[in-house]
Amino acid sequence: MAVDTISTNTNNTAATSQPLRVVVLVSGSGSNLQVLIDAMQAGTLPIEIVGVISNREDAYAVTRAHAAAIPVAILSHVANGKRMGIKTFERHASEQLNAWQPDLIVLAGFMRVLSSAFIDNAPAPMINLHPSLLPAYKGLDTHQRVLQAGEQLHGCSIHVVTAELDAGTVLTQAVLSLTHKDTADDLQKRVQKLEHQLLPWTVLLLAKGVLSLNKAPLNAQQNAFMPALPLKLYIEE
Ligand code: GRF
Repeated sequence: MAVDTISTNTNNTAATSQPLRVVVLVSGSGSNLQVLIDAMQAGTLPIEIVGVISNREDAYAVTRAHAAAIPVAILSHVANGKRMGIKTFERHASEQLNAWQPDLIVLAGFMRVLSSAFIDNAPAPMINLHPSLLPAYKGLDTHQRVLQAGEQLHGCSIHVVTAELDAGTVLTQAVLSLTHKDTADDLQKRVQKLEHQLLPWTVLLLAKGVLSLNKAPLNAQQNAFMPALPLKLYIEE
């Protein structure tokens, strides 16, 4: 679904009693998926993870989803030694998403680039977790590049997925200060700790209707009351 506007509702009047139906797309270890599963099971996040799509059969995220009895679709990028093209992947993923009817699609460590047709026709808005303070450091190897540039601040962002890589509106961010001793491995671990708080917080804002991703544009009066995005989460490490 193309997201035309993003609104915030600090009165929180849009909260619904139905859990938000969430599909999570993964490629790797799935530690962020696990955080969502734990919060769902603990009852601290009003969501139902209705399915997980993995483009890797061997992703540990798949084991985590199975352990939580969440339906999994494996759309492996390699089958019988043949690479599955993105078009085929997207056709299968679309069928699966339409069957699950999510309210929100979360890309959590999902490593394939999706086409604009897929994003626009998806049955729900899509958000992505990215390990940098966007718009800085789009793409891969963010920790290494942040160190090489001598940055003092780093962190992670959650943004709306659009056809342009890591370029959609940034909804939320969590920030950390670099120390002179940090290596890329240290940063990966420190940023991932932030992600584990930023992701459930952002999904909570969406589930409660504090943040909403709309099709219709806001009028000028509604716009005037919008707090500036991204919303920042300050976390003591
Ligand atoms: C995260 O650190 C995210 O920033 C990056 O991939 C990682 C996924 O981790 N894009 P996990 O699979 O959730 O453990």
